[in-house]
Amino acid sequence: MEAEIQDSLDRVRGWLAGARHACALTGAGISAESGIPTFRGAGGLWRQFRAEELATPQAFARDPRLVWEWYDWRRGIVAGARANPGHHALAALESRLPRFTLITQNVDGLHRRAGSRNPIELHGSIWKLRCTRCSREHGDDRVPLPHLPPHCDCGGLLRPGVVWFGEGLEPEVWHNAHEAVRSADLLLVIGTSAVVYPAASLAPLARASGARVVEINAGETPLTAAVDCTLRGLAGEILPRLAQ
Ligand code: APR
Repeated sequence: MEAEIQDSLDRVRGWLAGARHACALTGAGISAESGIPTFRGAGGLWRQFRAEELATPQAFARDPRLVWEWYDWRRGIVAGARANPGHHALAALESRLPRFTLITQNVDGLHRRAGSRNPIELHGSIWKLRCTRCSREHGDDRVPLPHLPPHCDCGGLLRPGVVWFGEGLEPEVWHNAHEAVRSADLLLVIGTSAVVYPAASLAPLARASGARVVEINAGETPLTAAVDCTLRGLAGEILPRLAQ
């Protein structure tokens, strides 16, 4: 098994070394080793709720305080967490390769904390708050927030600056991710169950545009059968070996 992984690591290192433009797409799995629960794994429940029941515009309209309590809890976990060797390895690759674009589905901000300079945050950030009345967005890293649900200076209700189930991605953010992947010759897909669209369409897009696709995941996903190489294991162990 170790020999097999070593072979695959050597192969992917070679692809990285020759890449004109490498991209990485990360999901909740890369932050799991920082102690942040994934969405669909064990620990994805809060009280008795699944993420899909709370991260929706309908849930927020019904009970903004409940949704904010969940986000306040998650912000607390992230505030107490540290970026792990997987995040740091991606920041190291970015500083070493001629062109590297990091695209993340995560809203935790740990890539930035690890030193990644300009991650494309497809699903926004839990550290941003947006007004449901005047649409103004601002950063707020206080944990816990002093008052739930928080309100804007204009009196409107603030919501987390994230993309919920059933909502579209910010057009410019999606455009940037799409264009990056279309021009990439290598895409690393890391710690994502590859079931949430449109993020999950980036790997097929990369392949259709002629890029190699490598999956780094602790388990199997719907993408596994369609990649050029699979590195099975923990992102926090595999990525540092890849970046060596
Ligand atoms: N290393 C590598 N992979 C891991 C690790 C790890 N340490 N731990 C878990 N994984 C893998 C799991 O096998 C799984 O495939 O990470 C994936 C996590 O999947 P999800 O919890 O579904 O997270 P993600 O794919 O990021 O979810 C996508 O859905 O809930 C919404 O908007 C939310 O951005 C999120 C999106």
